[in-house]
Amino acid sequence: MTTPQERLSKIHQAHYNVFLLHSDDVLIDLLTDSGTGAMSTEQWAALMRGDESYAGSPSFYRFEQSVKELTGFPFVIPTHQGRAAERILFSVMCGEGDVVPNNTHFDTTRANIEAVHAKALDLPCHESRELSAEYPFKGNMDIEGLKRTFEEYGAERIPMVMMTVTNNAGGGQPVSMENLQAVARVCKEFKTPFYLDACRFAENAFFIKYREKGYGDISVKDIAAQMFALCDGCTMSAKKDGMVNMGGFLATRDAELAQKEQELLILGEGFPTYGGLAGRDLEAIAVGLREVVQEDYLRYRITSTQYLGEHLVQNGVPIMRPPGGHAIYLDASAFASHIKPECFPGISLCVGLYTLAGIRAVEVGSAMFGRYDAENNCEIPGPQELVRLAIPRRVYTQSHVDYVVEAVSKLYEQRETLEPMYIVKQSAALRHFTAHFMPVDP
Ligand code: F0G
Repeated sequence: MTTPQERLSKIHQAHYNVFLLHSDDVLIDLLTDSGTGAMSTEQWAALMRGDESYAGSPSFYRFEQSVKELTGFPFVIPTHQGRAAERILFSVMCGEGDVVPNNTHFDTTRANIEAVHAKALDLPCHESRELSAEYPFKGNMDIEGLKRTFEEYGAERIPMVMMTVTNNAGGGQPVSMENLQAVARVCKEFKTPFYLDACRFAENAFFIKYREKGYGDISVKDIAAQMFALCDGCTMSAKKDGMVNMGGFLATRDAELAQKEQELLILGEGFPTYGGLAGRDLEAIAVGLREVVQEDYLRYRITSTQYLGEHLVQNGVPIMRPPGGHAIYLDASAFASHIKPECFPGISLCVGLYTLAGIRAVEVGSAMFGRYDAENNCEIPGPQELVRLAIPRRVYTQSHVDYVVEAVSKLYEQRETLEPMYIVKQSAALRHFTAHFMPVDP
């Protein structure tokens, strides 16, 4: 526990960037759902079986079996987290001038594509722009936009198409099976590989079961299998729906590609049967991937996120609707409508929420997706101003969520007190992690 006075001082010391706070000074941490979940007794038990052999560990084979059972991909490459899988995939598959379409790239995906001098293109469906409209699958890709992209650039410049399930940067919204099938058809027509960014595949599959016609009687595990069956491979951060604190993988159907990827893996991550992870980590992922498709767990999780969203809506707080799977996204441009995008309304909201209640949220707006134009000495804002309240898996209870509802609603009542923010220091890539802000114009 800290007092508002203490938090004012802590956030000032952290240069008004919640990433730079010490987590001991945070009461409820909704910064991310990535690696922040609690492992189950079965996972802790599996950990004890970790075999730390450098090569050919049985822990690897148990991990590989679990991934294959779920995805059907024959080649599975362990990595220390999702972005390592992305780095290897894009290094092998993309080159300068290439274009990689996605419903919406997450920040690390975008950065890893840009690192190989390719273009990361977002093609969210039109419905996603109406933040408060209740469409069931606002994470979908704009299929006409995808076709136009192939016409504009030509298939030879598009080494792959990705789909992020659920669409994290686009509000945690799910993608329908119908949309995945449509993307797969376009990819087939142009003989282009189709990849899933599968971090939250189980939450997405759960939404398909309950929102899409024809899936009500199919298990989440089988729906997930159908999703993977449409694709040529996937990247996965196991820190989300792998239910672990660290880990990830890259998977493919292409033996030749897998070999190239393994060469890079050895260079940067480790031998192909551990890839940057300990044997015990592989054991925990093997169990986590089986637990995450349990429908009672998923129902509890999705219902608690909904509970947070619905109570905020009842109190008049503007959020992206309907509530997504892993998080509620506050609409920062409506919440702090007196702050221009160039002055980071989302950062101001995060600072306000921390100072008021000790809650840590994350900006998904112009600090994350905008950029500084040095030539014209101005900020180019991102496409939207959101603040994400991400819910760690199996951690918080309803009373914590009630506290969050109360705090966010109170901040909304006093929203005029939120101040514009200015960047005083930033790095070129992924600036939001380390940037320094100030509430006064430098
Ligand atoms: N793709 C998506 C959709 C993600 O949400 C993330 C991570 C990654 C890839 C990268 O995975 O962190 O294991 O390297 N998202 C976290 C978040 C950081 O807070 O949403 P990673």
